[in-house]
Amino acid sequence: MIIGIGSDHGGYELKEYIKEYLDKENIQYIDYGTYSCESVDYPDYGKKVSQAVVSKEVDRGIVICGTGIGISIACNKVKGIRCALCSDTYSARMSREHNDANVLALGGRVLGKDLALEIVSVWLKTDFAGGRHARRIGKISELEG
Ligand code: RB5
Repeated sequence: MIIGIGSDHGGYELKEYIKEYLDKENIQYIDYGTYSCESVDYPDYGKKVSQAVVSKEVDRGIVICGTGIGISIACNKVKGIRCALCSDTYSARMSREHNDANVLALGGRVLGKDLALEIVSVWLKTDFAGGRHARRIGKISELEG
């Protein structure tokens, strides 16, 4: 599995921390930026990661801004993206099992670093349960028109 990761300046520090974890776990990733703490616009990075997921350049995405809110809203505007903003491990697991989330959003200014890593770890390990949930995902796709 290859992960696309991206953030704005508010998520930059957490992005770098998550990359260290991915390196340690031998999980491949592509870093779509931003590459410093300089102020940038989060939709640009949500778009880069989301387009990489939709085009199958990567299998799944992780996006981070200050709260995770703005970048998750941006990602969910891209057709085919189901981005879940998570601040606990239960939601992270459910976002995969029930919602087949293909992008995980995190808030770099609201989450402790180790909690963020646990969320990432659970999210990466959990598979979609399918069944009745697949029908519901299908109804979400219908909303995209
Ligand atoms: C940037 O200051 C901040 O607005 C952004 O990181 C994010 O929290 C938006 O939702």
